Amino acid sequence: MAEDLTISKGDKKTQYESLLPQIQGLLSGETNLIANLANIAAALKEQFNWLWVGFYWVEKDELVLGPFQGPVACTRIKKGRGVCGTTWEKEATIIVDDVEKFPGHIACSSSSKSEIVIPVFKQGKIVGVLDVDSSELAQFDTIDQFYLEQIVAMIP
Ligand code: SME
Repeated sequence: MAEDLTISKGDKKTQYESLLPQIQGLLSGETNLIANLANIAAALKEQFNWLWVGFYWVEKDELVLGPFQGPVACTRIKKGRGVCGTTWEKEATIIVDDVEKFPGHIACSSSSKSEIVIPVFKQGKIVGVLDVDSSELAQFDTIDQFYLEQIVAMIP
């Protein structure tokens, strides 16, 4: 497929519905993990223009920074620490309306106000997380959860 993304306007659901098949297209035929994570982060950033979107990947007892779009970020997060480490521990998506109210939140950027973190599973085992930050409060809900969980499930 062409490498140009078609950016959809409209409500959030419409934007995800347009983006999903395009991400599927970007991933199809490519098995390199870094390439695929990089393109997913880029496609999400381009469509939604969030502050930060990217991956942390499980390496021994830590999450290590992977492909992302946005400001520079902390490179390693322990299990149970911050929103990402808590998502890893609980193996479930976490939506944070106001990061200042999340105990132990790791502030990589002072501009981040709300966040959603999605676990990535491979053969039933958690292998990483997708982290999305917004510079506005309460930007994520179960619509984001629904579509972002589908997107990470596409990673080959
Ligand atoms: N806020 C995250 C850390 C990662 S950065 O937002 C990119 C956390 O609390 O785990």
